[in-house]
Amino acid sequence: MTAADFVPPDRSLEALRGAACDCRGCSLWEHATQTVFGEGAAHASLMLVGEQPGDVEDKEGEPFVGPAGRLLDRALEAAGIDREQTYITNAVKHFKWRPAGKRRLHQKPSTTEVVACRPWLVAEVEAVQPEVVVAMGATAARSAVGRPVKVTQERGQVVQSPEGWTVVPTVHPSSILRADDPSDREVQFDAFVRDLSAVPALLVRR
Ligand code: URA
Ligand code: SF4
Repeated sequence: MTAADFVPPDRSLEALRGAACDCRGCSLWEHATQTVFGEGAAHASLMLVGEQPGDVEDKEGEPFVGPAGRLLDRALEAAGIDREQTYITNAVKHFKWRPAGKRRLHQKPSTTEVVACRPWLVAEVEAVQPEVVVAMGATAARSAVGRPVKVTQERGQVVQSPEGWTVVPTVHPSSILRADDPSDREVQFDAFVRDLSAVPALLVRR
């Protein structure tokens, strides 16, 4: 099974969001609180795609509202992009984690899970019709471009997906949070902002 078995005939965002609540396209729903579907401007010219919801997102039901979301907010602001005018989602819609004491530790979704969840991303792109999809991190890029992507090599470049989407791969905000020391984090943050800053020039509709 994949998410394709749960995508409804009505492809409006609201119908998709409702149907995604009951998705059983892979096993990740079993240990997650809820489906975290995409959020934002219904006809955004820019779509941002992350990996999967984190601990905070799983509880709140919204994408990028935890620590990675705060870093993303700062980066978008520095790049002159209004978050309110974007649509933000994830390659995988359920939080994958393992217990570590009282904490729930993020686990990377498998390729099978990314592929199983991709029909939701396809449906979101078809509904929103963004001009550019920014894929943050290897998992997002894998799903958005439909093939493995080496983010270090292809970041900031324009890549076409099989569907003809214009995708710009970049790093994931969480990778910046994991940087070893503050100066390293600053360098990585600046590089992330540089990738994002090049995006508005690709947008015609704005
Ligand atoms: N990391 C992600 O990839 N997505 C979120 O929504 C939060 C953290
Ligand atoms: Fe469905 Fe995706 Fe959740 Fe798997 S991760 S159950 S495919 S919404």
